[in-house]
Amino acid sequence: MRTVLIDIIAGARPNFMKIAPIIRALDGRKVAGGLLRYRLVHTGQHYDARMSGDFFEQLGIPHPDVNLEVGSGTQAEQTAAIMIRYERLLIEARADLCLVVGDVTSTMACAITAQKLGIAVAHVEAGIRSGDWRMPEEINRMATDAVTNWFFTTSQTANDNLRRAGIGEERIFFVGNTMIDTLLLNMERLRPPAFWQDLSLEPGGYLVLTLHRPSNVDEEAHFGRLLTAVRDGTHGLPIVFPVHPRARKVLEALGINIQGLHFCDPQPYLEFNYLVRHAKAVITDSGGVTEETTVMGVPCMTLRDSTERPETVTIGTNEILGTDPDALRAALERLFSGGWKKGRIPEKWDGHTGERIVIVLEGLLPR
Ligand code: UD1
Repeated sequence: MRTVLIDIIAGARPNFMKIAPIIRALDGRKVAGGLLRYRLVHTGQHYDARMSGDFFEQLGIPHPDVNLEVGSGTQAEQTAAIMIRYERLLIEARADLCLVVGDVTSTMACAITAQKLGIAVAHVEAGIRSGDWRMPEEINRMATDAVTNWFFTTSQTANDNLRRAGIGEERIFFVGNTMIDTLLLNMERLRPPAFWQDLSLEPGGYLVLTLHRPSNVDEEAHFGRLLTAVRDGTHGLPIVFPVHPRARKVLEALGINIQGLHFCDPQPYLEFNYLVRHAKAVITDSGGVTEETTVMGVPCMTLRDSTERPETVTIGTNEILGTDPDALRAALERLFSGGWKKGRIPEKWDGHTGERIVIVLEGLLPR
């Protein structure tokens, strides 16, 4: 019987923790005689060690078989570069399936390229929607799902979104969350960053802040007001802010220096999640972080107007505050008065999603 080749696409930081469990499950099945094989394709959308290499190393992801080395650019430049280079690869050496995860530019670009060559597409984390077309990720989700054959979902809301779009039940697989597989597997390996002692951080005695969305960081005055609101609301507790390259450029222009606000480089996976696990609360505009805080039971405040992950709010510890600094002040007051909800863990976020995906793929792919 012939083997089946799956291209696993990874491009940007939030992809790496999502592919690791799928790769582990595929490796496990291969040892047991399974016929699925993979080729790991890194698009090069993220290329710094801090945004990419560290994650491969810490999560035990094998070295990519192919690196398309597209680097940075505008949305269209990045999309175009990935499509041109991935198409070239597929024409030279075709795959049987293209598996994409999440909602970054690499996800969309590779899904479209593969489908146009008649190669089936599987999308992991399919069907989630924020409804906010100002976010490039929302366009990426819609465009990817429009050319996806098989939808692997993290929530009932995602299933419902896909059903409403006319996708048949036989193409939707509610498997859970691979990002949470990675978190649960690594929970005991989490470790403090080198600055933990220098800053005299203590469990429950600091907050974590991450902001990188254009809507929050690209406008200097607004970014500055948000940072001031954080400082004012945290009762003197230190705030640790691992700064994404996009935000760093604006911070340098602002020349801001707020007492108690500690800027650091983007943290590797184990250090970042150690910080989150032991934080009093997390303030963020990330989507993935709201899932991780939900599983770790850490209060989370999201500085966005919408979420594509509503279960982190209805079931988990997350609240959507919008981007008004006053709303953040009010939420911090509630946190410090002890009024934050506890939350539960969403259905199937149990650490076994990667294995479920591989079992489904084995049943779907022709030999
Ligand atoms: C991307 C994802 C976003 C995700 C984020 C996590 C899209 C549309 N967005 O946004 O969903 O939350 O990654 O990090 O795909 N840069 C570096 N080094 C790198 C990568 C980027 O310095 O390794 C700088 C470049 O100047 C680049 C900028 O960061 O222009 C933005 O990078 P880009 O990949 O375009 O988007 P992100 O904002 O990182």
